[in-house]
Amino acid sequence: MPHPYWPLFDLRVRTPRLEIRYPTDDDLCRLTAVIDEGIHDPDTMPFLIPWTDEPPPQRQRGSFQWWWSKRAQWRPEDWTFAGAVFVDGEPVGAQDLLAKNFGPLRTVRTGSWLGRPWQGRGLGKEMRAAILHLAFEGLGATEANSEAFHDNAASLGTSRSLGYEDNGLETVLRRGTPDRMVRLRLTRADWLRRRRDDIAIDGLEACRDQFGLPGALGEP
Ligand SMILES: CC(C)(COP(=O)(O)OP(=O)(O)OC[C@H]1O[C@@H](n2cnc3c(N)ncnc32)[C@H](O)[C@@H]1OP(=O)(O)O)[C@@H](O)C(=O)NCCC(=O)NCCS
Repeated sequence: MPHPYWPLFDLRVRTPRLEIRYPTDDDLCRLTAVIDEGIHDPDTMPFLIPWTDEPPPQRQRGSFQWWWSKRAQWRPEDWTFAGAVFVDGEPVGAQDLLAKNFGPLRTVRTGSWLGRPWQGRGLGKEMRAAILHLAFEGLGATEANSEAFHDNAASLGTSRSLGYEDNGLETVLRRGTPDRMVRLRLTRADWLRRRRDDIAIDGLEACRDQFGLPGALGEP
């Protein structure tokens, strides 16, 4: 049964290999168990905010507070779709899509992680393709941005293999030490060249206004 008040819970993006949906609290518990098993080599830090360095139970509680804050603070002018990724009904990772002033700007950013057992099998690329389909096909985005540390070969490889172009470097703190972050940008034209016809979006119409969009589905 559709959620009576929060239609985002019924939004689904499906590819032949996976499904992305807005997680319930039960899904978040299962996703937290995936994080507990490890999502990166502890010797390196792929994230700008080093949240995976937090010891338990602060890390798990911090994750829940972050997810809940994204729900509570959702506004059409500033939203984070913190999606959970499922393979055969099992949570395997997270794929976020976020934007500020999406209505006029039509620009999105993404962030993601997978549990280590699911990495290196093409799923990172598949879930990024899925969320880009939501952004470009579903929401009419004109540009998508991403960023990764210079040595994060899997994340950079995901972006580049989907057509993103390098868009400059930024020096940021990584675990308190300056390091280089690579910015990447995918235009609508470059996405269209690789547009897939095997990705389905369900339940978007009811939440278009939450993404800051008036008008009909797919209108640019
Ligand atoms: C980043 C992440 C989501 C990528 O997902 P993945 O499933 O491991 O990546 P895929 O198997 O889909 O590979 C995507 C592309 O990157 C390439 N790639 C993957 N790992 C690579 C590596 N270690 N070195 C070079 N290229 C690599 C693949 O060959 C593929 O490109 P191709 O299709 O042109 O061959 C995943 O590795 C992850 O969760 N890492 C830890 C958290 C993280 O770094 N999050 C991102 C923070 S910016």
